[in-house]
Amino acid sequence: MSTQREPQVVRGLEGIYVATTELSRVDGENGRLYYRGYDIHDLVKYGDFEETVFLLWYGHLPTESEYDAFRKRLINYRFLPENLIKMLPLLPQGTIPITAIRTFLSALAAWDPWAEDNSRDAELENAARLTAGIASLLAKVQRVRTGQEIVEPRLDLDHASNFLYMFTGKEPSTEASAAMNAFLILYADHGFNASTFTARVTASTLSDMYSAIVAALGALKGPLHGGAMEAAMRQFIEIGHPENVDAWFEKALAQKRRIMGIGHRVYKTWDPRARILRERARVLAEKSSEPQWFEIAERLAERALNHPYFQERRLFPNVDYYGALVVYYLGIPPELYTIMFALSRVAGWAAHVIEQHADNRLMRPRALYVGPEHREYVPREKRT
Ligand code: CMC
Repeated sequence: MSTQREPQVVRGLEGIYVATTELSRVDGENGRLYYRGYDIHDLVKYGDFEETVFLLWYGHLPTESEYDAFRKRLINYRFLPENLIKMLPLLPQGTIPITAIRTFLSALAAWDPWAEDNSRDAELENAARLTAGIASLLAKVQRVRTGQEIVEPRLDLDHASNFLYMFTGKEPSTEASAAMNAFLILYADHGFNASTFTARVTASTLSDMYSAIVAALGALKGPLHGGAMEAAMRQFIEIGHPENVDAWFEKALAQKRRIMGIGHRVYKTWDPRARILRERARVLAEKSSEPQWFEIAERLAERALNHPYFQERRLFPNVDYYGALVVYYLGIPPELYTIMFALSRVAGWAAHVIEQHADNRLMRPRALYVGPEHREYVPREKRT
């Protein structure tokens, strides 16, 4: 009798732990999220994106002097290589934004003297270049593709405000900067989601950080992962008016259509990030000439939360539901939402590459072969 166990196939790796991490803890039952032990509520309330990134990369909150030095380092990398900027208008008209960003982020490696160096010090430097660089790239690519003058970075603004400044050409309001910071903090890391896992698989071959992050961006692009925020906003736009919500909701239910921005694989209660972003969206909506999008979202969420279909399945608004509204009110068009996600998550991907390289084990699962066995080879001229 064979002692070998039948191989178990776990489709989608659901419920499988493939590594340990010290970066984030997702408590799906209680709706909590921690970065290195700190509750995201505290990080949003008291800190900013730079502080969160420092925490993820270095393992502790920065002292005043560490914070200043770190901020300066990120500021230096806001400036992209001149020849890379010259490449921005060269892609064909109509290139989708994420294709442009994926291409130029990959090209950035060519100007990085440490791109091939996987030591911790070099990776911390590359991570800073990538995190500052993707924000500059998005702002510049968008201005080029919409026929506007490129806006140079400001040295006196924090990462979030500087991005909005380069993107819109205007200094953001205090509320807008606070909302952008909250957005960036909340999207920075989230366990082994598909793009983070992709980054770690790539890093596990001892490939470099740029390759891992470009691979992660490719995984994020898919509609089952990074596309939900854009889909949520397009759904609010499709509904059009708060008075249309009830009829739209009934029709969606009848058609078994999914409500985008609702439901989560891990959270079986409110996604804690959604609660925080909801309040930011509320503040921005009050000052906006288009408050209807927030009202539509609120009414739709209320309908879903009170409906037995959603209650029985424990489906609640997730980060993308209110994240979409926040970025919309910040003046970002929906076709850029997946890259907005990446603007923050790049910091988490980089942290995971560093963590993977610090204690590497090649990720190499098995596939259970179920195709035909022992087929006889027939020469081409005899095949029918
Ligand atoms: N609207 C309507 N029904 C839904 C929804 C929804 N948004 N989400 C799940 N369901 C139903 C689904 O039809 C299924 O019903 P039944 O048991 O009768 O077949 C049940 O709930 C369980 O769904 P599932 O697809 O097995 O659950 P999952 O854990 O695989 O899916 C999800 C999680 C996020 C893919 C899903 O809730 C969904 O598609 N939501 C909409 C898209 C979305 O908002 N995605 C963003 C996810 S959060 C991003 C992040 O954390 O980074």
